[in-house]
Amino acid sequence: MQRGERIPKPKPEAAAIEGVAIWPTIVRLARLLARLDGPGVRLRIWIALVLTMAAKVISVFAPLVLGFGLNQLTTGGGAAAAPAFFALAGLWSALRFASAAGPEVRNAVFAPVSEEAQRQVGRAVFAHVHALSVRFHQTKRTGSLHRTIERGVRAIDFLLRFLAFNIAPTLIELALAAGVLAWRFGVGFSLIAITTVLIYGWITFGVTEWRLKYRREMNERDSEAAGRAVDSLLNFETVKAFAAEARETERFDQSLAAYARAAVRSNSSLVLLNIAQIVIMNLGLAALVALAGWRVLSGALGPGDIAAIILIMLNLYAPLNVLGFAFREIKQSSIDMEKMFTLLEEAPDVADLPGAPDLAAPLGEVRFEGVSFAHEGRDQGLNGVSFTIAPGSTTALVGPSGAGKSTVLKLLFRFYDPTAGRVRIDGQDVRAVRQVSLRAALGLVSQDVVLFNDTIRYNIAYGYPDASQHELDSAAAQAQLLEFIESLPDGWDTRVGERGLKLSGGEKQRVGIARVVLKDPKILILDEATSSLDSRTEAQVQGALDSAARGRTTLVVAHRLSTIAKADEILVLKDGGIVERGRHADLVALGGVYAELWRRQAQAPEALPALEAS
Ligand SMILES: Nc1ncnc2c1ncn2[C@@H]1O[C@H](COP(=O)(O)OP(=O)(O)OP(=O)(O)O)[C@@H](O)[C@H]1O
Ligand SMILES: [Mg+2]
Repeated sequence: MQRGERIPKPKPEAAAIEGVAIWPTIVRLARLLARLDGPGVRLRIWIALVLTMAAKVISVFAPLVLGFGLNQLTTGGGAAAAPAFFALAGLWSALRFASAAGPEVRNAVFAPVSEEAQRQVGRAVFAHVHALSVRFHQTKRTGSLHRTIERGVRAIDFLLRFLAFNIAPTLIELALAAGVLAWRFGVGFSLIAITTVLIYGWITFGVTEWRLKYRREMNERDSEAAGRAVDSLLNFETVKAFAAEARETERFDQSLAAYARAAVRSNSSLVLLNIAQIVIMNLGLAALVALAGWRVLSGALGPGDIAAIILIMLNLYAPLNVLGFAFREIKQSSIDMEKMFTLLEEAPDVADLPGAPDLAAPLGEVRFEGVSFAHEGRDQGLNGVSFTIAPGSTTALVGPSGAGKSTVLKLLFRFYDPTAGRVRIDGQDVRAVRQVSLRAALGLVSQDVVLFNDTIRYNIAYGYPDASQHELDSAAAQAQLLEFIESLPDGWDTRVGERGLKLSGGEKQRVGIARVVLKDPKILILDEATSSLDSRTEAQVQGALDSAARGRTTLVVAHRLSTIAKADEILVLKDGGIVERGRHADLVALGGVYAELWRRQAQAPEALPALEAS
């Protein structure tokens, strides 16, 4: 099992699969259908149910008609009985047609209902997964998560069709058939029919239950293969750079091989089940025919009745054929659906309080008050960090790699909640306002800008989808990106590739800057926003960022100290706390951590041009 994997939750599920109860699933589906809205949904459900039941009733009674006709032929007066026989045979064939066509029409009537149910649930789960916190998304595996949703949605379709239109009607058909057999031919027949079906069901459930472990193994291997494939394909550059194609293929193949082994075991055990089913079915039929033959000999029944009895039984058996499959798939689908709904019930760690107001940030004052936080699985973190950024001023955060600078920014975004202390904007605790309004006030250029696999236009306009071309141009120009975009053959409609792979690091960063400039947020947050740029471009972009920062509360993280020398306050973050704070000149004069960093960078030649520019 992979470290940190949360979906699928391995333990409880593994224990639950054998004893999974169908009832909660039925309740869940019924509620789902009841809530389903849309034109004609309810009417369609009713028509589908009526069609299903009608088909079953007809299929039980049709053999009686034929049996009656045959009796006419054999016991009646020869040629005189022919017209009656042909009429009855015609009726029988018409009834058979009706009972076979009914379910087909029903499928057509019901399809929109099922599709709508799948769509509504799929949409809800997707929205919910997006609402889950950053912590959840950092620990999930995208491939497995996607499978969970896909399987869950597919399970809804399967369950609706099988529970409502297969299992339940078959039970009713069994009762009907038993009744008809007893009424027309004698209780003995219905006893044999019921016993056969019960033994059949009992063996099917037992063997299927036993087989579930192979099935579960198959599913686990399948998820594992999917997870590995997606992870590996997402990281194709790393794979290539390390010439690890063969290794990745080998890893994927291990999952495939494990899947294949489980699938073979599953299939072999199915053969066993099928043979057992065939034996029982035929024993039942043989018993019925023998009893019927004996009754015909004694004159209680006509020969046509034997045909009717055989037909009734064969009709009853037909849906039983898939009983094992249906039973297993219903269980599996119940699990898949539950898993998806569990996802839906997963409460976000970071959630809006009920009735939380929108953030009002007229000034944009940012205040950290004794904020402590450690990432999951780490014991070191931020420890009582306090600072205030006055409205419209610029504060810089410096410190060694891994000190927690990006974490401070994420706390301001409320990607996580602090374990102690609070983060306030204009006096409001960020936990007390709606996240959407909080993030609307903030603009982030993150350390590694990741882009959507779409056009440059889509990516820049992401911060403000209604932007006009003029606004796009001016944002791109400020980020020193317009010239580049216009030099591309496809211009604004150039596709950037998955995660932005077709752009250089510096181009991606400038797309990130342009999209924030376009968003025009109250509070600007720059996490090493210019780290991938050459010093000339950096100086130009820095100019744009400086002008964007003017009159705006700004929090900057930078390793290249020359870019933040003009900040109103510089905070030095080290070992989870702020060890020095003040203006550049004061900190240099202080002769502490900052002064040491500054001295080293000033000696490094690449810092000099940027220094001159500033
Ligand atoms: N999601 C996470 N789960 C667990 N630990 C994390 C997570 N994100 C960051 N960390 C850890 O928290 C610490 C602070 O990380 P952070 O990204 O804030 O550092 P940073 O100061 O921005 O460093 P850099 O200058 O390299 O960007 C690091 O030790 C990092 O390994
Ligand atoms: Mg960082």
